[in-house]
Amino acid sequence: MTRVAIVTGATGGIGEKFIQRISTMDDIEEVWAIGRNREKLDRLKEEHSNVRVIEADIGNGGMKVINDLIREEDPDIRMLVNNAGVAYMGDFSKMTCDQVVSFCKVNCSAPSELMLICLPFMHEGSRILNISSASSFQPNPYLSVYSASKAYLKNLSRALNHELRERKITVTSVCPYWVDTGMLPREKDGKKINYPGMVSADLVVDKALKDSSKGKDMSVPGFFAQYFRIYSKITPTSIVMRQWVAGIRKYL
Ligand SMILES: NC(=O)c1ccc[n+]([C@@H]2O[C@H](COP(=O)([O-])OP(=O)(O)OC[C@H]3O[C@@H](n4cnc5c(N)ncnc54)[C@H](OP(=O)(O)O)[C@@H]3O)[C@@H](O)[C@H]2O)c1
Repeated sequence: MTRVAIVTGATGGIGEKFIQRISTMDDIEEVWAIGRNREKLDRLKEEHSNVRVIEADIGNGGMKVINDLIREEDPDIRMLVNNAGVAYMGDFSKMTCDQVVSFCKVNCSAPSELMLICLPFMHEGSRILNISSASSFQPNPYLSVYSASKAYLKNLSRALNHELRERKITVTSVCPYWVDTGMLPREKDGKKINYPGMVSADLVVDKALKDSSKGKDMSVPGFFAQYFRIYSKITPTSIVMRQWVAGIRKYL
């Protein structure tokens, strides 16, 4: 059985770093990079000899492609990184029903489904890393669906880390604050957007892999995210939400 790692959102900032790191690990023979962008996937294949690319839209039929491939190949899945995610900042009431459903599919249903698909092919020592966010620490007005979806993924991950203890499979919820990737818009109406405490994707990935190897159910990279985790626990949620809105209002 081939020892495989599966990474979704492989064409994005954090996903690409995961591919770089995991493709050099001794205990992984093949990395399956999942994404939609054919050009970026082809580039990943050229750059890493042990990367196999899978073109799939995980919010729209892509899960069947992945499921069929796993059943056909019967791999030993050593690692699953549920990294693909989408974000929308703005009024909830301006979102369309299709948009909300599609967000929930990519951020919640797809990682849940992929865990269920992969678990029968995972063994003692296998690891799951789910990329949540520090926005899971409290509700975020104007980022409402995103922060709710990330709270879902964080709570699911921590519960599963407990449930899968007997099988010695770990599940880690990765909760960064702002990360320097293409997901973040850089300006609004000509005004530069500031992201306090922004960290690099390298830092997020290094810490996530380290924490997951220790079996931790949470990985919170960078001082700002760690501080914010404690702050949002000890401060009334209504105050944290007001402060959040005050900080982002000029960018809405
Ligand atoms: N950047 C931040 O500040 C930040 C902070 C906390 C958590 N996160 C989380 O980190 C993860 C990675 O984000 P990133 O910052 O690296 O952003 P990114 O550069 O925008 O990458 C997002 C990735 O998700 C993929 N994706 C989106 N919808 C998909 C779909 N329907 N099917 C398949 N793939 C899909 C994208 O592929 P395409 O190229 O095909 O669109 C891309 O590879 C996300 O879950 C995000 O929520 C990010």
